[in-house]
Amino acid sequence: MIKRPRRLRGNIAIREMVRETSLEKRNLVYPIFVVEGNNVKEEISSLKGIFHYSIDRLEEEIKELMDLGIQSIILFGIPNEKDAYGKEAYSEKGIVQQAIRKVKELAPRMYVITDVCMCQFTDHGHCGILDQCGHVQNDVTLPFLARIAISHAQAGADMVAPSDMMDGRVAAIRTGLDEAGFMNVPIMAYSAKYASSFYGPFRAAAHSAPAFGDRKTYQMDIANTDEAIREVELDIEEGADIVMVKPALSYLDIIHRVKDNFNMPIAAYNVSGEYAMIKLAVEHGLLDEKAIYESVLSIKRAGADIIITYFAKELCKWI
Ligand code: PBG
Repeated sequence: MIKRPRRLRGNIAIREMVRETSLEKRNLVYPIFVVEGNNVKEEISSLKGIFHYSIDRLEEEIKELMDLGIQSIILFGIPNEKDAYGKEAYSEKGIVQQAIRKVKELAPRMYVITDVCMCQFTDHGHCGILDQCGHVQNDVTLPFLARIAISHAQAGADMVAPSDMMDGRVAAIRTGLDEAGFMNVPIMAYSAKYASSFYGPFRAAAHSAPAFGDRKTYQMDIANTDEAIREVELDIEEGADIVMVKPALSYLDIIHRVKDNFNMPIAAYNVSGEYAMIKLAVEHGLLDEKAIYESVLSIKRAGADIIITYFAKELCKWI
């Protein structure tokens, strides 16, 4: 006797009719790395297939995304000048601010999200302002983060995504945005952001590895789940519109638990290390390329609505 679940697998039409999840282009956000200079399009050695672009070369990238039907990007800027206070992060002429204006000029309908953090902009590579002993000062950092978010909104960003993990930053950014007249700019908070080893390729790409120490005092302990729920709860109370879990693949349980606990849109960041692992395995013929789709689909199945992924373009093959 054929067991009941199998009867729904015999035919492709019925399989498709009962399929529970699907990945859509509208769920995907593609990360873009912008650098200073002219005529730069350089493959990032730690992230095969992903490039550093100067502002004047963004056009081809944006056009490709538009043609593929990808409607959202998250911008990361790599400034030439770094200092203790990350001044370039909130300068009107900063690399991210310039990139936002350029993308909006090229494609007004592209939804532009910005990463709000200091680590790419500080000479010490930490996500906040340090005291004399080299410790990140949480409360001192908050007004800087608000200032960065406001400057992104002024340049035309559609949504800001604080990734620094300082306590109270969502409230500080919300108040800052509202006071500056940007009540309608949502916040996608990196709420459960783990102190993960899977960010390695990104830090090489964004030149944001800390010069000393690590981020364990402000990013989450990889062993914790209750703590993720508390972080998410706080960010929602402070005004987050979308909450994020990061990384994604090693944290599918967290995505699922957040989805079960809160009636909120959830984003997941399929981070650089997760991309590099699968990308390299496919390149070396160890995995079939459909492993890409399978891995990202698992993030959707776990409960994520929005998936930030370096695979966004490749995924269009299967969507
Ligand atoms: C900045 C930031 C990081 C990532 C996104 N925003 C690096 C970090 O926290 O060290 C990582 C993304 C990735 O690995 O793809 N704070």
